[in-house]
Parts: sequence; structure tokens; C-alpha cells
Amino acid sequence: RDQCGIAVESRINCGCDRSLSRADCEARGCCYVPLPQSGLGGPPWCFYPVRYPGYKMGPLLPTEKGQRATLARSAPSYLPRDIPTLQLDLMPETLGRLHLTLKDPASPRYEVPFVTSQSRGHKDIQNPLYDVDFQPDPFGFIVRRKSNGRVLLNTTIGPLLFADQYVQLSTSMASSVISGLGEHYTPITLDLNWTSVSLWNRDMASANLYGSHPFFLVQEGDGQAHGVFLLNSNAMEVFLQPAPALTWVTVGGILDFYIFLGPSPQSVVQQYHEVIGYPMMPPYWSLGFHLCRWGYTSTNITRTVVQLMRQAKIPLDVQWNDLDYADQRRVFTFDLQRFGDLPRMVEEFHQLGMKYVLILDPGISSASPPGSYKPFDDGLKRGSLRNMEGSIEILYLSNQVWPGPTAFPDFTNPTTQDWWTDCIRVFHSKVPVDGLWIDMNEPSNFVQGSVDGCPDSDLEKPPYTPGVIGGQLNAGTLCVSAQQYLSNHYNLHNLYGSQNHLTGEISESTRPFVLSRSSFPGLGRFSAHWTGDVRSDWEQLRFSIPGVLLFGLYGVPLVGADVCGFGGDTTEELCVRWTQLGAFYPFMRNHNDKPNAPQEPFVFSQQAQDAMRTAITLRYSLLPFLYTLFHHTHSSGSTVARPLFLEFPTDPDCQTIDRQFLWGSSLLISPVLEEGALEVTAYLPPGTWYSLHNVIPPLILSYYSKGQYILFPAPLDTINVHVREGSIIPQQVPALTTTASRRNPFTLIVALSVGNWAKGELFWDDGESLDTFEHGNYSYVLFFAEEVQNRENFGLMLTSDICFILLSCVGAIQMRVFGVRAPPTSVWANGQKVHDFSYSQDTKVCNKRFILIFKMC
Ligand code: GLC
Repeated sequence: RDQCGIAVESRINCGCDRSLSRADCEARGCCYVPLPQSGLGGPPWCFYPVRYPGYKMGPLLPTEKGQRATLARSAPSYLPRDIPTLQLDLMPETLGRLHLTLKDPASPRYEVPFVTSQSRGHKDIQNPLYDVDFQPDPFGFIVRRKSNGRVLLNTTIGPLLFADQYVQLSTSMASSVISGLGEHYTPITLDLNWTSVSLWNRDMASANLYGSHPFFLVQEGDGQAHGVFLLNSNAMEVFLQPAPALTWVTVGGILDFYIFLGPSPQSVVQQYHEVIGYPMMPPYWSLGFHLCRWGYTSTNITRTVVQLMRQAKIPLDVQWNDLDYADQRRVFTFDLQRFGDLPRMVEEFHQLGMKYVLILDPGISSASPPGSYKPFDDGLKRGSLRNMEGSIEILYLSNQVWPGPTAFPDFTNPTTQDWWTDCIRVFHSKVPVDGLWIDMNEPSNFVQGSVDGCPDSDLEKPPYTPGVIGGQLNAGTLCVSAQQYLSNHYNLHNLYGSQNHLTGEISESTRPFVLSRSSFPGLGRFSAHWTGDVRSDWEQLRFSIPGVLLFGLYGVPLVGADVCGFGGDTTEELCVRWTQLGAFYPFMRNHNDKPNAPQEPFVFSQQAQDAMRTAITLRYSLLPFLYTLFHHTHSSGSTVARPLFLEFPTDPDCQTIDRQFLWGSSLLISPVLEEGALEVTAYLPPGTWYSLHNVIPPLILSYYSKGQYILFPAPLDTINVHVREGSIIPQQVPALTTTASRRNPFTLIVALSVGNWAKGELFWDDGESLDTFEHGNYSYVLFFAEEVQNRENFGLMLTSDICFILLSCVGAIQMRVFGVRAPPTSVWANGQKVHDFSYSQDTKVCNKRFILIFKMC
């Protein structure tokens, strides 16, 4: 019984699949040791003894990509349809990335078809950051950080189980500070106190949410970090425990692990994005303000909304319509009574320099009389819609979504892609929409599986079902035994939303804009994401921050929550605070559910409108900076909205902060998240920080922090934003649309460091052409401010390098320099004395206006 003497927090549950009586437990050869505390959710009473029998590993032999070994079970496990022999492949791919797979060598199993590694590795990696050791019997592996010997993963703490519909592996963790495994409402770090998370895409605004991201990042406690990605799209549950340890259980596929060694958290994210693909470069206009609701029931109502926004002088780039536009909620149609002049309305918006997006659910109405709804008829003809067995070319399932009886196209079938693209082209030739909003693509179904029920099979009722709402995999979605072109829905379900990204390709020359609710790793290469049906309450306002930040880690940086909340009536105060926070979501859209009170900015009091205008205008002034952050994410994999721990990894105070966040490395956003609050307590990492805008004078504008919480005033018209010392932030004079603001002069904020230097950059292109970076059609400006000692008078020199001439419009630049400690006696720019400057003794801000002459590189 010594083998059962395991510390309580380290017990690995022998009954992840079901709860076990003493007899059942002992029949599995596990330890049954009840604990005094009762109740569900605590440490298991039935757990694996030390060295619970599993697979035995044979010798490691070299392969082209690394090393391979065969694992064999000496005795069957307690699971049905065990896989007795496994093949282990160990592939060191880069210095910081290790790839390890476990699969059945005898008969190929389902593997995720789309997510690809951009840079293939090779076996001759000299001196990687990791070491791998094996325990041959029972099989387990240990991954260490070579520099300090730290054990990052140790799977010898529990058995490897590998059966047809049940695959389980446990590992110890290097620390308890772990982020990821979304999409869920969680703080930025997960609770390891005997919790679990399920990954199975679901239209359920409270539980296992719309997307699945089997990736997590571990902060090791000394500023170093690593990440783990399990590339598996089957339904999965991950059990977390305080040891710290976790157990993966997936109901299919193979074990396909990528381990990223960082060593900084930022580099872990980059290494992960290298595998799943760098995010797309969004069109510039998509960074503007978007306005939507369910319930703009006609073109005239939609037009009025736009007019009222313009009258209120609140910037608006993109007007949206929800289901209301469609004839009987059928996609690719518009209601001729209420939306008869939709094409004209869209043209009018274009004339105003605006864009237009509408919803396009993947479920297609299947109940119209033959000959009356061409998209469906064509789908049938082309075999894009199949029945469940895939045998005859008719609608594959009877489902129920917004239009009533609905068919779900199988986007893994190339025929479907052609048909769907054609439907979009035809629709677009009538209604020149600028982007598409793909909703209900988990896919979401209002009946369980199908109106005709689902077949009785092992796929519909697997031996073990992860903890999903409704208790069955087909709850709220399709029958999982439905056969798709590439595999069955059981395997492909979590990928459904990532397959119909092609729906956004409405033009051959401009960047697509797609907003998808469902997600899987790799979605960010094509699409933006919003966090679904959030309630209009303060808690959801607060949780939207970790939600947005985590999607940055998942490689979907263009993300936001519905501003002012979607479900339930908002309040004026909540909506103001949400607009202020939303002004710093990478994707900012105010969206509302059908029965709710209106929440467009113009429906509120003048004071509230002023506050919202200030916040949105501030966003617009910062768009050149935001766009530059997107360029970096697109070209090298990084984050736009960034958790503090990514930027200040060695600061223990930053490890769990998710009430504040950064834009890139330079702007710190500290919103009000509590009702009635007129102050905010915000953490400032060590260094000098400058308030981005004056609140109520007289306010001290710069703060020197030793790494401390500071109480800031935050009246209703204010969101606290601080600029980090040493940064230069490019801005542009805001306007009511980005079409207009892009023509306005640029300005710079120069936030001097204690050493009197600052740097920044600007990526600039036409904002909409495809692949401008890839084709070199862009400008890239680096700004440096530094102290110049060799002049008679102290001064600052600003230099920039410009790579292409596109940026001729930069011309005259107004600068605000923060942190000039004494009034300058003179100001020089490009070798010329500048007379047009002012200095404020109170704020230590020097305003200068001069012409920059760019040097060509
Ligand atoms: C879903 C979406 C929501 C949309 C509604 C009607 O609930 O999440 O944003 O308004 O469907 O289309």
C-alpha cells in the first residue's frame, strides 16, 4: 500500500471517466482512500498508485526528423478498444520548440487537417533549450529547461491511456500560474483547485464557450515561461489540480504536442503563432468603431442610426445589420419590403466614407419550396449538402436554427467551398457589403442533433463524454456521427467555424473582414472574433478583459466583447464605462439583443455622449499606433492587447493582473470596472508613466512608480491611460471615419525616459490592399528621440528612417514631448531652429510643431 502514499494534492484521479465505488476502483488496480471532507470537486478518493502499469517503451531509433520508439502494453487497460501498440515520435523542431506525437502505427487515426506548422524543424538542432528524458516502464516523459534543470512537464505522475475513444495523459506543472485552455469565462490565470475545463465548441453564453484552444502558457516564476499546445480537435476535458498538475482526456485523435520553451512569455506566444500561423493584417477601417444591434428592422431605421451618430459627432466607421435584413432569415436574401433598397443604403454609407457588414450564418434554410430559394437548390444540385449517411445528395440533417429547418453545409468538401463562394459572389454583386459576420458556426442547433434524433452509435454515446452542458456531445449541435467529407463530425466539430473563413473573400484585391464566433487555433489567420452573448452587467464587463487578452495569446488579436453588453438592458453608467474600455478592445463594436433598450451612444444624456465621444475619439487618434501593433502581430506573431505579465515578466505583481492591460509595450489601460466608482486603483510597473490626457486640472501628469498601486481619479468622462517612459506613440488627428482621419496630420507623443530618450514606430500602407507587407507596399518609420550634448543649447533630436515614399502625407508633425524637466532655451529639428513651441511648467510637456525631413533608407 506504500504505492498509495501520495500527497493528497498530487493524487491523479483514476475515475476521470466516471465515479467509482471502492469495488470498481480496486478492480482497476487503483487506490481507494476516502478523505474526511466530502462533496464533489475535491481530491479524488480513487487514484492511481505509483507506477500504475501502462505502456512499455522500446529503444529510441533515429528518424529523419528526430527519434522514434514503439510503446506496447503488457496487459489491457480498463478501457474498451485499447490500442495496444503506439508509436512515439520526438521531433526537435527549433531551439525553442519540441514536437512530440503518439499515434497508432497499425491503423491511421484522425488527425487535425488544417493547422500547419509554418517552419518545419529538423533533427540537427544544436543545443536546444530543452532536454527530454524517458521512463521506459511504465512509459512517461520528462521535459526540462536545460539552462536551469527545471522540470516543465513530467508525465510519469500518471499512466498514459490510449483507447479508441479515450486518450489520457497527466503531467506535473512547473508552477501554478497557467493561462489558456479557452474559451471560458476565466481570469487570466486558471484556478487549479480541482477544477476542469471542457473544450467543445458550443453556443452557450455561460459554459464551454464558442471556441476551443488546447494551448496554455505557464509562468515559471522567475520571468521565464513555456507553453504547451495539444493539437487535437476532439472533445476534450482538462482536469487541473493543485499539485500543480493537469490531466488531458480527449475522446479521439492522436496526441500531438508542441512544447514551446520561450524563455520569455512573449517568445512563447511567438513560437506558438509560428505553428498555428500569424494573424491576418486587418483592413484599417475595421479598427474604427462598429455599431450593430438585432432589431434595426429596416433600411430607414439603419440609416437613421447613422445620421444620429453623425449628428452627435461620434466617430463611426462600420454600420451593421443582424438577421433583420434577410427575407425570412434566409442567408443570401434580403427582405424586399423592409430592406428593398439595401444596395442603395450600402452605397450611401460608402459615400460617407463608411463600411457595411451583415450577418451570414452558415445554416441554410432547407424548407423553402423547390425552385424558390436558389442557394439551397444549388447546394443540393452540387452535392454540397448531403444526408447524414452521406449516401444521397440531399440535405444531410433536419436541424432547426433561425430560419426554421436548416441544413449545415460541409465546408470540408471542396464542392461546398465553390458553391458557397459562388453564393457570396452573387449576393455581393447585388449588395456590396464590406465584410461578413459568421455567427452560429459552432455549429449551433436549436434541437439536439437533429429533429429526427441521432443514430444509436459509439460516436453519439462514447464511453466517456467530457463535461459539456447537456451531457451529450450532440447537445445544441449536430449529430456527431454525421459524415463529413474529411471525417465525421465527432472529429471535425471544433473546426467547423474555422472552415468557413472563406466566406469573407468577397473581393480579390482588398483584405477580407470576417467576424467569427466559433474558433480553433489558426482562426486568427482569417478572422476576427467577438466573445459572444455577454450580459450587460459589471461582472461581464470585467471578464471581458481576460477574454480579450487570452484571444491575443490564441493568435486572434482582432477581438472584443459587445460594448455595453448584449443580453439585458444596459445602464447609462455601464455603457459609458464599457465604451471607454471598448475603445481599447482591438475590435470595438457596440451590439445589442433584440428585446433590449437601445444602447447607441446618442440615446444617452449629453454628459454620457460627451464621455463616449471622448473615448472613441481617443481611440481614433491612436489608430496609427494600433495599426502598427497589428503589423507586428501579422509579421512576427505577438500580441496587440497584452497582459502585463507578457511585458513585465519578472515583476511578480504582474503575474495575474487582468483588470488592466497594455496596448503593445507602451500604453497602459486602467478602466473603471465597478458601478459608482470615480477612482481606480491601478498598478504601475516600475518606471515613469505619463497620463495620456489631462483629466481635471491641476493633475500631475507623470508618475514615478517603484512598482506600486496608485489611486487615480476616474470621473465618468475619463479612462486612465498611461504612456510608458521611453516610447513614441504615433497618432493622427481624429475624424468621424477612418477614411477621413487617414488624411489628417500625424502627431507624436514622445514620452522621455529618465535617460532622455524615446523610440517608436509607424507602419503605414493604403489600409486595405492584400499583402502590402509581403509585397513591400508600405512605409515603415522608426522614431528616435535622444539627448544631444554637442550643441550649445540642450536639445532633442528626432530622427526617423523611412523605407518607402508612400508616407509623403506625414509631412508636418505636431509633437508633445512628456518629461522635459526644464524649459528648453531652444528647440532644433533637422538642424534648424524651431520657434513655434511652447512649454508647460506644470506638466513638463513641450509642444512643438515642425516639419520632419525624412531620410530615405
Ligand atoms: C446570436 C449572436 C448574436 C446575434 C444573434 C442573432 O445570439 O451571438 O450576436 O445578435 O445570434 O443573429
